[in-house]
Amino acid sequence: MSDYPINMSMKPEVEAFFDPATNTISYVVKDPSSNACAVIDSVMDIDYAAGRITHDHADAIIDHIRKNDLKLAWIIETHVHADHLSAAPYIQNALGGKIGIGDKIMVVQETFGKIFNEGTEFQRDGSQFDALFKDGDTYMVGNMQAVAIYTPGHTPACMVHVMGDAAFVGDTLFMPDGGSARADFPGGDAATLFDSIQKVLTLPDAMRLFMCHDYGPNGRDIQWETTVAAEKEHNIHVGKGATKEQFVKFRTERDATLAMPKLIIPSLQVNMRAGEVPTDKDGRPMLKVPVNGL
Ligand SMILES: [Fe+2]
Repeated sequence: MSDYPINMSMKPEVEAFFDPATNTISYVVKDPSSNACAVIDSVMDIDYAAGRITHDHADAIIDHIRKNDLKLAWIIETHVHADHLSAAPYIQNALGGKIGIGDKIMVVQETFGKIFNEGTEFQRDGSQFDALFKDGDTYMVGNMQAVAIYTPGHTPACMVHVMGDAAFVGDTLFMPDGGSARADFPGGDAATLFDSIQKVLTLPDAMRLFMCHDYGPNGRDIQWETTVAAEKEHNIHVGKGATKEQFVKFRTERDATLAMPKLIIPSLQVNMRAGEVPTDKDGRPMLKVPVNGL
């Protein structure tokens, strides 16, 4: 069992919002005893070829929160996503709430601040976010206590957020038949990811696990919810007691075959700024492409 404060008798209502353009699942998590809620891993729509940003996915989340008369307490990012843009500031403008991420965001900002050749005006201290979590930090969503668990490996700033009997695993795990996320981005590490996954698997067997992504492997319908017990038994990368050595070998070989995510260049520039689009010297929203930089 883990040392984190876990309360399996607290059962939040979880509403999922699937984004087919990026295979991301965003969540609204409601405290069962109040109208407080949290948003996990929102998505801002981008047509990258056209340089056009829209907000249909985030608007669906905002509508859901308004229709159900919920009060938004937190807007959580499980990590700096490389495959979609966060809509955190857009949602915050509409509904309030605090934007939170792991405090290792500073490591990510340092790495990509260099890659995108950002000037000194780009702060690398996480100050774009309202809250920076350390391992084991707790926060409240109404009367429901949430805990942030440090789970690096996919990226250095990844955290799993547990609220009652529901854990939002970000990109530590995929559904059992999807395995795990890549560990080859700058600052990623397969052995570290294995250790973080073991941490998740020490949560109670009945803990509901909610994925950040699903790609419908082998033609099945998209799914996003499983349990610790199901992952331990059936996960194709770490289930049935797979060893760290096996995992690292497999993950490293697989990652070497993967192309960069289509939206990695805009995603990193926006997400390392807590979802704000960068601006040029005249204040116009503008994205860069570092040539041979990634
Ligand atoms: Fe990710």
